Amino acid sequence: MNNANILIVDDEPNALKVLSAILEDASYNVYKANCVDKAEELISTERIDSVITDLKMPGRDGMNFFNYLNTKYPDIPVIFLTAFGTIDSAVSAMVKGAFYYFIKPPDYVKLKAILAKAVEQRKLKSEIAELRSQLESTYGFSNIIGKSPNMEKVFKAVEAIKDSSTNVLILGETGTGKELLAKAIHFTSRRHYKPFIAVNCAAVPRELLEAEFFGHEKGAFTGAVSRRIGKFEEASPGTLFLDEIGDLELPLQAKILRAIQEKEIERIGGSKKIKIDIRLLASTNRDLKKDIQLKNFRADLYYRLNVIQIKLPPLRERKSDILLLVTHFIDKFSQRENKHISSVTPEVMKIFLEYSWPGNLRELENVIERAVVLTKKEIIDVRDIPSEIKKGIKGNGSGEALKSLKEMEIETVINAINAFNGNKSKAARVLGITRKAIYSRLKEFNGHKIPKK
Ligand SMILES: Nc1ncnc2c1ncn2[C@@H]1O[C@H](COP(=O)(O)OP(=O)(O)OP(=O)(O)O)[C@@H](O)[C@H]1O
Ligand SMILES: [Mg+2]
Repeated sequence: MNNANILIVDDEPNALKVLSAILEDASYNVYKANCVDKAEELISTERIDSVITDLKMPGRDGMNFFNYLNTKYPDIPVIFLTAFGTIDSAVSAMVKGAFYYFIKPPDYVKLKAILAKAVEQRKLKSEIAELRSQLESTYGFSNIIGKSPNMEKVFKAVEAIKDSSTNVLILGETGTGKELLAKAIHFTSRRHYKPFIAVNCAAVPRELLEAEFFGHEKGAFTGAVSRRIGKFEEASPGTLFLDEIGDLELPLQAKILRAIQEKEIERIGGSKKIKIDIRLLASTNRDLKKDIQLKNFRADLYYRLNVIQIKLPPLRERKSDILLLVTHFIDKFSQRENKHISSVTPEVMKIFLEYSWPGNLRELENVIERAVVLTKKEIIDVRDIPSEIKKGIKGNGSGEALKSLKEMEIETVINAINAFNGNKSKAARVLGITRKAIYSRLKEFNGHKIPKK
């Protein structure tokens, strides 16, 4: 029932024989090595699930082997067998992460129980590694399409910070892939197997944001019927992605700054400080420098977040990526729709290259999704492309149709936002709608850039 592969290392032939017989009896596959060199050879050719090694051996000893395993195969649990006089080194091996140690002669019943645990841990670790690589292929850089010089710059910047834990500020217009990049940064970093938590600061109602960030104790305020863990705590020791950070109000900016500086938080209504260890990624499509001048954004918080800044170029500045992206999105959606669509006509491609894509990659993705769903052919042609896109490239003015109610509504929202220099909260107050409603109008507007008057 076991079938796990165990490597036993001992210079004493008799010890090897006895232990391997016992383990084989418990239906383990046993590999034997009478020295560390032999053991290393075996470990490189067989898939070993756990190692049981003697500590004192002539030549390289068990500790030496353990150090080797620790760097090259950190997921393999190691159990030490040690003679009475060498307990000190066994203890120091435990400190370095050995799984267990037994004094010779071991209690074999206990040894088998511990070994079963080690094998179980190994199994879990390889499952996690498997999931991790799945996550990496879903969220890693292979998903970020782009070969244009502007995107190469982005990839270079990301490569440079891969192994660090610095905070990163991701800038870019709507739909340029800020969230996708944040995920990729996390899932290729050293924290990749720790949590990745995203909060969209603009989508959570203002009065709930503080509790969302820091959590609360039971009874902290009316409605706090039970304790709640906030996102800062949840993300620790991983990555917290604060999306649309430019929309945060000043008092919360101050609280976030304090949490970053002191590396601890307090739940609302709580008195205990809770240590947090997070990497912060933040994104915004606002001009934070300008917000600082207007006193809408704290300069000190900006400098904390802006240790590294990565700016995603708008699609109109990476047109050489359009063909790649079109192909990528066609593949993605025709797979989902179970269709065989290969490409777009040259005429469509020409339109795509001329259009300015105010909603950036999200807009392109939506256009392709719609075309893939609607078309009955194998090649997407102009009839599958929405008329706004076609109109969008023919300049303006000519025969403008009557505006629909929806368009007028969206225009009103946009004008209000512009009137307040992009401050959505103020615009919402003036229009008498919630910030959330503003947000959903903007989404309906398909992420089009807000036209400046
Ligand atoms: N380089 C890319 N390659 C493939 N797909 C991309 C790329 N960049 C963005 N996308 C896709 O475009 C869509 C929008 O990306 P994302 O949500 O990351 O943008 P954003 O900058 O966070 O937008 P917003 O400012 O509106 O929040 C997503 O579906 C994403 O998968
Ligand atoms: Mg986003």
